[in-house]
Amino acid sequence: MKRIVVLISGTGSNLQAIHHACQAEGWPARIVAVLSNKPDADGLDWARAQGIEAVGLDHRVHADRAAFDAALSAEIDRQQPDLVVLAGFMRILTPAFVARYEGRMINIHPSLLPAFSGLHTHQRAINAGCRVAGATVHFVTAELDHGPIVAQAVVPVLDSDDAPTLARRVLAQEHRLYPMAVRWFVFDELALDGLRVRHTGAAAQHLLADAAGSKDTT
Ligand code: GRF
Repeated sequence: MKRIVVLISGTGSNLQAIHHACQAEGWPARIVAVLSNKPDADGLDWARAQGIEAVGLDHRVHADRAAFDAALSAEIDRQQPDLVVLAGFMRILTPAFVARYEGRMINIHPSLLPAFSGLHTHQRAINAGCRVAGATVHFVTAELDHGPIVAQAVVPVLDSDDAPTLARRVLAQEHRLYPMAVRWFVFDELALDGLRVRHTGAAAQHLLADAAGSKDTT
């Protein structure tokens, strides 16, 4: 049974999508804890309602980033996880923290990396005149939003889009993409080769959706 710890800062809709897929598909895995740097994060209440251990660690009460990361990794290590999942976790982690979980920590970013790392990804894609946008699941490395890519989901950008409408379209695909990527990790179906991540069963490591979010328009 693989042990998964999820880090969130907000709603936790990706957390919920992963949990539902894990339960519905009977993965040999369990989300053993949900941690947040925001003690009032909605996702913590949701986790408690599922009977999952949920811990709020307020980053503002720690002297600095390193002190917060030390407290966070103490909580994580207590759970002995096989996988650490960043799901809307909005803290930049120190290199020492990242090194501790390298190869077993993944993140979802709401853009088609390496384009638009950082914040405000949807508005920047619209401003740049992009015709497609999306989300990326990647292994976490010390360089923010730059680790080896596990899978990506692509959606069209419509002329009528603003950042909120595009964000909704991308988030709907995130809820398909992240469970797929976590399932592959749980079933040991990922081979990490330098910057390349390969699915050992040659599954497609992308999702393409049309404006309505209809699946796989290939
Ligand atoms: C998602 O769009 C994710 O890509 C980004 O933060 C958002 C979090 O959503 N990092 P949620 O908290 O999982 O609902």
